[in-house]
Amino acid sequence: MSELTKIINDRLEKSVPPSARIPYIPLSFVKGKGALLYDCDGKEYIDFLASASSANIGHGNEEIAAAVNTQMLELAQYTSVYFPTQNMIKLAELLLEKAGRANYMASFTCTGSASIDGAIKYARGFTGRPRIISFSESYHGSSYGAISVSALTNNMTRKIGPLLPGCEKFTYPDCLRCRFNQKCETCNLDCLEQIKYAFEHYLPADEVAAFLIEPIAGDAGLIVPPKKYIKALRELCDEHEILLISDEINQGVGRTGKLFAMDHFDIDCDLYVLGKSLGGGLPLGAVVGRKDVMESLGSPAHAFTMSGNATCCAASLKMFEIMDRDDIFNQSTEKGEYLRKKFLELKDKYEVIGDVRGAGLNLGVDLVTDRESMNKNYEATAKISYYCMKNGLVLTFLGKSSMRVQPPIVITYEQLDKAIEIFTEALDKYVNNELPDSILDEMQGW
Ligand SMILES: Cc1ncc(COP(=O)(O)O)c(C=O)c1O
Repeated sequence: MSELTKIINDRLEKSVPPSARIPYIPLSFVKGKGALLYDCDGKEYIDFLASASSANIGHGNEEIAAAVNTQMLELAQYTSVYFPTQNMIKLAELLLEKAGRANYMASFTCTGSASIDGAIKYARGFTGRPRIISFSESYHGSSYGAISVSALTNNMTRKIGPLLPGCEKFTYPDCLRCRFNQKCETCNLDCLEQIKYAFEHYLPADEVAAFLIEPIAGDAGLIVPPKKYIKALRELCDEHEILLISDEINQGVGRTGKLFAMDHFDIDCDLYVLGKSLGGGLPLGAVVGRKDVMESLGSPAHAFTMSGNATCCAASLKMFEIMDRDDIFNQSTEKGEYLRKKFLELKDKYEVIGDVRGAGLNLGVDLVTDRESMNKNYEATAKISYYCMKNGLVLTFLGKSSMRVQPPIVITYEQLDKAIEIFTEALDKYVNNELPDSILDEMQGW
């Protein structure tokens, strides 16, 4: 650790509580351009994290900065709850147009978590039913509502209960490590059967307002569910008049090559929740959903002083303009395919890579102890991630074994190649036992 990083870290420890951070290794970035980052010592990094998928458009975008500057000088914000700004209305209209669904509406907040809370409120309000079903290892945010529907780590829930009542969890469909010991080819969707069993025996379906699910389970390790599961879930919802909510906060806004990652599964959801990259670098969250559902709550059941504020919406509008002009969604698809091939080539060479999955520039590269058991290889994951970060590639991990590959979509092909070079070096070092165990004491993360 450099002297400056040490000082920053000491100051952090003294001024910001542990509850507000998930450190991997001590690093503090001061500048970014596109997919490049610079730390407090001026060292350059390729960003494979995109600020936790909140910088799909990349860093240091001058056009967005100019739009924000103009708006700040004209009218930084005036609460849209009382007097709506043009920008908020424009952004709502744009999202509805991009969503391509008739009779949808959009409401805004300043974070993904607050929009998850909104989705819960709308679902309960519309159906008059109390229960929300979400999934194992899901992360939906840190407000009380969002924590209540999350199931990632006890550290989030310990000591703060009671949480929101009526929040039920079932197993997320993970075909690599099926909890029901099924094989993909012969799978009967036992993971869905457990829900049907619950509906028959102890969880009345007519008390369930909504399922809340991520189209790709981000923080669980970028797990892609089988299409037949999502389709069957939609059918189950229809059968019991339960709403389906897609959490697109991590996966939306072009990350998988589409506005909504759920569109890969050819189904419609009743509500979509957006956040992170939606704000083009500023805090913004949204619920986009069926008009009848969203109109079920009266004024002001989901209103925040700063939500849909003029400056955040200006950044978002400019970002979408750039995304359209530069075909960023398509770039995500093409660069994602390019990168997937590179990782699959590495998989052919290195036994430790058990799986490469994802959609668009959004890949989970799973490291395993062996390909027979497909057990998670935390040691390899932590050591390789550490080596990459020390050598100019911000590559974190999730679910103890999944490399989180979510670069800004504007990353160049040269930068992708360079990143693969660093990752390959790390693999070689790991295979040759050159990465010491002491790394495991230093490395933290989820
Ligand atoms: C899938 C998902 N939902 C919700 C959230 C919460 O968003 P925010 O941190 O903006 O409140 C996150 C954040 O990591 C997320 O990944």
